[in-house]
Amino acid sequence: MVMFNIMQNTDSSKLKTHWCGQLSENETTNKVSVAGWVSTVRDLGGIIFVELRDRSGIIQLVADPIKNTEIHKVFQQLKSEYVITVSGILTQRPQDTSNPNLATGSVEIYPDTVEILSESETPPFIIDEEQEINEDLRLKYRYLDLRRPKILNNMLLRHKITTNIRNYMNSHEFIEVETPILIKTTPEGARDYLVPSRVQPNKFYALPQSPQIFKQLLMVGGIERYYQIAKCFRDEDLRADRQPEFTQVDIEMSFVNQEDIISLTEGLVVEAFKAAGVEVSAPFPRLCYKEAMGAYGSDKPDTRFDLKLFDISDIMEKSSFEAFAEQVKKGGSVRAICVQGIADYSRKDMDDIRNLAVSFGAKGLAWITYNMDGTIKSPILKFLSDEESAIIQKRANANPGDIVFLVADKNKTVFDVLGRLRLHFGEKLNLIDVAKHNLLWVLDFPMFEKDDETNALAAVHHPFTSPNPEDAALLETEPEKCRAYAYDIIYNGNELGGGSVRIHSSELQKKVFGLLGLSEEEIQEKFGFMINAFKYGTPPHGGIALGLDRLVALLAKANSIREVIAFPKNSQAKCLMTEAPANASEEQLRELYLKLVELKKK
Ligand code: AMO
Ligand code: AMP
Repeated sequence: MVMFNIMQNTDSSKLKTHWCGQLSENETTNKVSVAGWVSTVRDLGGIIFVELRDRSGIIQLVADPIKNTEIHKVFQQLKSEYVITVSGILTQRPQDTSNPNLATGSVEIYPDTVEILSESETPPFIIDEEQEINEDLRLKYRYLDLRRPKILNNMLLRHKITTNIRNYMNSHEFIEVETPILIKTTPEGARDYLVPSRVQPNKFYALPQSPQIFKQLLMVGGIERYYQIAKCFRDEDLRADRQPEFTQVDIEMSFVNQEDIISLTEGLVVEAFKAAGVEVSAPFPRLCYKEAMGAYGSDKPDTRFDLKLFDISDIMEKSSFEAFAEQVKKGGSVRAICVQGIADYSRKDMDDIRNLAVSFGAKGLAWITYNMDGTIKSPILKFLSDEESAIIQKRANANPGDIVFLVADKNKTVFDVLGRLRLHFGEKLNLIDVAKHNLLWVLDFPMFEKDDETNALAAVHHPFTSPNPEDAALLETEPEKCRAYAYDIIYNGNELGGGSVRIHSSELQKKVFGLLGLSEEEIQEKFGFMINAFKYGTPPHGGIALGLDRLVALLAKANSIREVIAFPKNSQAKCLMTEAPANASEEQLRELYLKLVELKKK
């Protein structure tokens, strides 16, 4: 019996008994039903071959005008992306017609029934091909993009990683607790998404930037070991590794110290990597913040290659180069990197590098070229004694063929510019060993950073982070020198996650809020409930959050986290498929007591 264009399957037989991609020679002579999307139709005059695709892969269907005539008639109508179900006996393909590129390449089905479940218009792009497709087009038709093996595999990997994470956390006596989405605000440092309240006119909820406050309150609530695969929302400028809504593996635990959290997280990361077939072993190396900045110019160092920064402030401070000496005297520094084998750079190459450094925020970029003939060339050589020049060459470990690049500025700029130049050369000169999986911890972050202009302190991690007890006294005198009990986990130069041991005394918490410039009233208004909760028996606690999208993207070797999110936003925070954000009706606005303001033309 041939059925087609019947939308409902009235037959009692199953639409699908097997996954297309999992059929093998073991099942030949069995009757199977498969269902999926028509991937390709090849009409070879007589015989029609159809490749049928589902989530698991592809199976070849064959219709022969003589052998299965009725089926052949239906197959003549098939086009790409039609949804069909067929049943028939799975057979071994004739010798020498096997397709070794296909998992099911040694078998095929000559169906005896076929049903067209749904027709398809010509899709805006070909589903199976690995060709580059414009990303906007893919995002507009994301449901079609999801059918492509690349994105589908990313979804599968994400599921496997999440499963391993859940298994690991469950086996360590953590319980998954959901925290609210309509909340007050979380001070993670980004802009909040606000949701107007209808019931409470002119009041707003914020969407959580993370579950931070709630997970700490769960500790006060005696949950002791919490985790959540949690949605977070941050209104910030988007980049390849940032989305307005993203997912964290969020963890909090009581009666622990920094070591406990680090070792739990290491076990978790090992399991997560296993899901992607990557073996890594714990413990991971550790760098303190100062070392990371000093050697790599970054708090998320890519240690897969060397090209380390070195400090020459002491030499430059005494040199006759005023511009450099002055930076050191003002509290800044002069640091450098030595790039091997590029002494033949042209004038234009050097201009490009200088412009790059300036685009990173440098005032200028000084250089010393060690020519192959043993001569040294540099615009700053005239300011240096032979002895000073020799010390620099020694520190740089510079040989003929190398160029040393120097930056003088306030420390933040020096690190940032040289750190980014280092990454630039790492990539450009193929210095990065891409086979490496370098996981490491950065520890001993400062508690606060000072704004250059206002001198105001801001929390480097977040305001609930505990000071390192060894530095507690500094809170009174030089808070900007106080180290925090905070840690970041880094993978190949990417920040996978970060966390801290928390403050669990309401007095210390108030003190830190005060240092951050919050008045007594502001503390009460913003965090009164938290300070209050801490008065009722608060266990010492701490935790961490890993960026799940980043973790999956890195393990999938995707170049953006958009590739591992089913329905991501584009760089304008827009969903190209649904066209959110969209207009609200007059009625909706009225209910919310909102009035729109005419946009001024720029
Ligand atoms: P933090 O703000 O460092 O810490 O965030 C933790 C991790 O979340 C990921 N992440 C993002 N991923 C995608 N898009 C974004 N916009 C984005 N922002 C952050 C990163 C980051 O390392 N509550 C604290 C954690 C804690 O202290 O326990 C927190 O949210 O991988
Ligand atoms: P000048 O004497 O200003 O011509 O500078 C000499 C060299 O030092 C030039 O190559 C400048 O690009 C470079 N230079 C100037 N200021 C800085 C700075 N802050 N850091 C690094 N190089 C600089």
